[in-house]
Amino acid sequence: MKESEMLIDSHAHLQDRQFSADLDQVVQRALAANIGKIVCVGYDYETSCEAVDLAHQYQQVYAVIGVHPHDAKTLTADVISKLYTLARDPKVVAIGETGLDFYRDLSPRDVQRQAFVEQIKIAAELYKPIVIHDRDAHQEVMDIIKKEKAGRNQGVMHCYSGHLPMAMELMKAGFYISFAGPLTYKNARKTVEVASRITLERILVETDCPYLAPEPVRGKRNEPANTRHIAEKLARLKQKSLAEIAYQTSLNASRLFNLKD
Ligand code: NI
Repeated sequence: MKESEMLIDSHAHLQDRQFSADLDQVVQRALAANIGKIVCVGYDYETSCEAVDLAHQYQQVYAVIGVHPHDAKTLTADVISKLYTLARDPKVVAIGETGLDFYRDLSPRDVQRQAFVEQIKIAAELYKPIVIHDRDAHQEVMDIIKKEKAGRNQGVMHCYSGHLPMAMELMKAGFYISFAGPLTYKNARKTVEVASRITLERILVETDCPYLAPEPVRGKRNEPANTRHIAEKLARLKQKSLAEIAYQTSLNASRLFNLKD
């Protein structure tokens, strides 16, 4: 595998319990598949600390710290102040994942909105990009992004599921668009259209593991090594080589997260 074909998994949850028994092998398989860097994302304070620990344990892992919309009610004033402290760690590259999830509604919607706005402020004050999750809340997410200028230090809409006009608005607002396993699914017509039409210069790839395993391993536990399947699908859609996709998406992720070699 050539260096130029190195991919970055821009969104993984390596701290998930599903990896506790064999994480070393998971990371080894990622390296063998030429996934050179993995961005490990927290979803509450505890898993944010775990992401930072993993970033210290593995040189190629970086951490994103924050509170997921599902856990929005855990973002207390105390947790906010602890996130500021945790963000001083040099391997913390962004704030998130935050946003809105009106599909599962695991935290009340008002609490989700408030936690989203709070984390946009944290990212702004720390000059860090923001990682956003949006499920069935496209219009409200977009409204908050614009009102709060969430993209002032850039950001990424992870596991993109919206339509083309929203992707255009997001890019204008300073965002990258990240594609995960669903891009490879048979019913992904809308996502495929977005990926085909938007510029490769704003695209990232991710696994969101252990969830959303891509074809041909759909249904299994997902892991960073599978980033390759998403990049291959993107290569077919863009009619480019895997090396070109790897080069540009890795450059994009490195720019967004300010990743050092
Ligand atoms: Ni995630």
